[in-house]
Amino acid sequence: MHSLPSQIVPNQPPTALAPMQDVTMRDFLHLVAKCGAPDYFFTEYYRVHGQSKIDENVRQSIVENETGRPIFAQIIGEDIEGMRRAARELLKLPVAGIDLNLGCPAPKVFKKNVGGGLLRDPAKIDELLAALRDETAGAVLSVKMRYGFVDDRYFDRFLEMIDRHGVDLVSLHARTVLQLYRGKPDYSYVARAVRALKCPVLANGDLSSCDKAVEVLAQTGARGAMIGRPAVRNPWIFHQCREKFGGEKVFVPKLADVRKYVDDLWVVTGGDGLADRFHLPRMKKLLNFVGLGVDAKGGFLREMRLTKTGAELFAVCDKYMVDGGNAEKSFAPDALPNLVARPNHED
Ligand SMILES: Cc1cc2nc3c(=O)[nH]c(=O)nc-3n(C[C@H](O)[C@H](O)[C@H](O)COP(=O)(O)O)c2cc1C
Repeated sequence: MHSLPSQIVPNQPPTALAPMQDVTMRDFLHLVAKCGAPDYFFTEYYRVHGQSKIDENVRQSIVENETGRPIFAQIIGEDIEGMRRAARELLKLPVAGIDLNLGCPAPKVFKKNVGGGLLRDPAKIDELLAALRDETAGAVLSVKMRYGFVDDRYFDRFLEMIDRHGVDLVSLHARTVLQLYRGKPDYSYVARAVRALKCPVLANGDLSSCDKAVEVLAQTGARGAMIGRPAVRNPWIFHQCREKFGGEKVFVPKLADVRKYVDDLWVVTGGDGLADRFHLPRMKKLLNFVGLGVDAKGGFLREMRLTKTGAELFAVCDKYMVDGGNAEKSFAPDALPNLVARPNHED
């Protein structure tokens, strides 16, 4: 078994920013690192076909990684020779390891029998793991998965295979593929994976605050925490986790800090050069998550979604994050109850 890269604070549970398509690209990773990096980053997935070449965004995230933290390259596919080749090419770049996606629930993906779709086909996963383990013999091989496609019928088989092939790390999103991103995660599957596997397990799915991360790690015995959407809402979450794990006072950002984060997101999603009609959908996708911590009545989310220009968008941000004394208000450490981030904005 290969050991994982060392953590920022030794002996603390490692944290990771979950891979997110069209989000976890170079500039966003740098922005999160500025707020307090996780121990590990993952690229968004790179779709491997017979003849595919490394996706340019993925390559950039790896070779221009200035976060100071290691990055795993995620691949998705089922073509054995293509996956071998992709792993081989990625290992020539400065990656922390190769991560196999066994969880993507987008119908256009799983219908091709890749990502979450593979969870219906244990024999194919066995074959893929054997090939990837062979190809990554000197490197870290990790798997990011859900506990099943429709239910847990193959879960124990997956765990047996993962162990047999000597996978070095598993990140488990505690939902089925058909649950998409909704419904409560069932962390008992994380606990089962922890009991069954020799390798470390990262718990994933709705670890919405540092308190929640501590709770789920205690409940499951997972080695660490992988966090996705909550880190888009609150990019300070990894810093807060480290403080919480270390028994220190946890930093609480003000809404003024969030307003600055919005400016940074504007740059990350295209800067001033990009026309509003392309820029606003990208911003709104991310602000849907940020808005879960801004005001309890959801006024920010409602008004932000109706904006038609960058100027209107910033005016709404100023109204809720700066004006009338809002700048000094605390940014909620967890998502506020009864607000939803429009699941159709999640891939
Ligand atoms: C917009 C978006 C894109 C995603 N893209 C990927 C991806 O490329 N690879 C992957 O393994 N998971 C992907 N996921 C799933 C996340 O990595 C994570 O497992 C999921 O969001 C649950 O964790 P969270 O509650 O902390 O967000 C994506 C999720 C979202 C919301």
